[in-house]
Amino acid sequence: MCGIVGYVGKQKVLPILINGLKRMEYRGYDSAGVAVIAKNKLWVKKRKGKIRDLEMDLNEEGISSTIGLGHTRWATHGAPSQLNAHPHVDCQKKIAVVHNGIIENYVQLKSRLQSEGHHFNSETDSEILAHLIEMFYKGDMGFAIREALQLIEGTFGVLVISTHEPEKIFGARRGSPMVVGIGEGETLIASDGAALVEHTRNVIHLEDDEMAIADAQGIQVKTLQDKKVIKAVEKISYDLSRIQKGGYDHFMLKEIFEQPETIHDSMRGRLLLEAGNAKLGGLEGCLDRLRHSYRLIITACGTSWHAGLIGEYLIEKLAQIPVEVEYASEFRYRNPVITRVDTVLAITQSGETADTLAAVREARQKGALALGMCNVVGSTIARETDAGVYLHAGPEIGVASTKAFTSQVITLALIALVLGRMGTLSSEDGQTLSQELSLLPEKIRSILKQKDLIKSIAEKIIPHQNALYLGRGFNYPVALEGALKMKEISYIHAEGYPAAEMKHGPIALIDENMPVIFIAVKDPVYDKVVNNIEEVKARGGWVIAIVSEGDEEISRLCDHTIPIPHTLQPLSPILTVIPLQLLAYYTAVMKGCNVDQPRNLAKSVTVE
Ligand code: F6R
Repeated sequence: MCGIVGYVGKQKVLPILINGLKRMEYRGYDSAGVAVIAKNKLWVKKRKGKIRDLEMDLNEEGISSTIGLGHTRWATHGAPSQLNAHPHVDCQKKIAVVHNGIIENYVQLKSRLQSEGHHFNSETDSEILAHLIEMFYKGDMGFAIREALQLIEGTFGVLVISTHEPEKIFGARRGSPMVVGIGEGETLIASDGAALVEHTRNVIHLEDDEMAIADAQGIQVKTLQDKKVIKAVEKISYDLSRIQKGGYDHFMLKEIFEQPETIHDSMRGRLLLEAGNAKLGGLEGCLDRLRHSYRLIITACGTSWHAGLIGEYLIEKLAQIPVEVEYASEFRYRNPVITRVDTVLAITQSGETADTLAAVREARQKGALALGMCNVVGSTIARETDAGVYLHAGPEIGVASTKAFTSQVITLALIALVLGRMGTLSSEDGQTLSQELSLLPEKIRSILKQKDLIKSIAEKIIPHQNALYLGRGFNYPVALEGALKMKEISYIHAEGYPAAEMKHGPIALIDENMPVIFIAVKDPVYDKVVNNIEEVKARGGWVIAIVSEGDEEISRLCDHTIPIPHTLQPLSPILTVIPLQLLAYYTAVMKGCNVDQPRNLAKSVTVE
């Protein structure tokens, strides 16, 4: 949720910290702070608001230092405020700590520390770390940090600097991502590779209960039990342009417009047009077990869960394997019946979502085959699953997920194709599907060209407070996703429903003030959806519909239509979602909302 970054080396640290924090601002953006060691004193600056506000304060200070750490916060314990912002310091102001995660036993630890005379300045759980380390410090910072972290119940990605050992930065993790960047004469540690990539591409990923101790010369990794660990150095594969806006007003718009390329990247080297099949290297060793699973349970949260619902339709239709889709947050707490003949597939853009990670652990513990579908290479879920498949959609910075969703659906279609071809799907049907998959990037391009039409419709949505999204079959999850995009970035209350469910309740909401957005493309459920549109029109509803190109009849029935090219029914979500992403984007922008950083949200939800 929060973003943390630390640096030790030969360059001035403040600009590096600020730049690193800006690259991670999508992780949390309600307050921010930095701490550096200058002239053997700890110097801390923090404030409520965005990184740029902090940056403006810092410009006036002129502090020079080459070691420090920074934090951008998404509040869990204590409201966003200057006092609750990180870094937190100990009573003697010799130790500074930034923390990402939740300390579940902080109330007990805090009262113990208070009874021993420690004084607290914030309402956060994180502050106890600075005081615990202070309590354990007897001349060895590494020892004090290890002792402190052993007492923590919960999750942490934590960085520490101290005037006791002023050339070192310490980083440790349990359940929160932490990546160490190894440069020449400099080391960075952060919650996300995006904060490091300008300095180095050589990284190591810390595992749970590992600690990195870095100085300008290099790093050492140990376990929290003080055992040395030899880590492999990996390379960050994307370049800087993938994490910059590249001329677009917002990351979200850039990411929407990148989709022809990103879905192409998700299929690159995997789609076998002539064979009517696909090749997914990451799953090769376990395809037989997957194909013969008793059932496949897809687990995910939010947008990734919507992709999972489409995956259910795709895999059941093409491969005839029973699929269930579960919210990861429910799955982990209801003691689900899972056996060794089940497969659990976790879908997650970030690969760090706490609930999804817990679901993976639950599945593995019960003996199921645990697979991951992640975008972030080297993320925790990518590493904790038995096998998996990457999306290759490139970094997604906009908080509202767009390109990851289409790549998830593409990748699920590839899995369905492979599993189908292992069963009863004929090579002709496989060829038809793979041909059509290869045409989707061009079809998305043609939808994106309609941005002005979509913008003009969005303008009419602005005065409304509610919206209903309706779709059937493969496009029911798209209705859910369209509604989620609208509510999370424009703050208009939007609900998605299977179109036929409307008459079982939501129809009571229909009047001339209710925009109803239908997905009504020509597919086997088209006639049924048209009936639902008639029902809405008969009650004075205002209808916007995503329709198939050339469908004049439906245009007469609806107030506004957005035509899209035809594709096969199982693949249509990849096209129908594009206008809905743009509709939400333009509505939010014209309402003056911050689409890349919607209120109360964060990109990577690493707390329960
Ligand atoms: C919505 C959105 C969220 C995420 C959800 C899961 O636009 O982005 O609903 O989809 O928090 O995140 P990942 O996929 O990283 O597990």
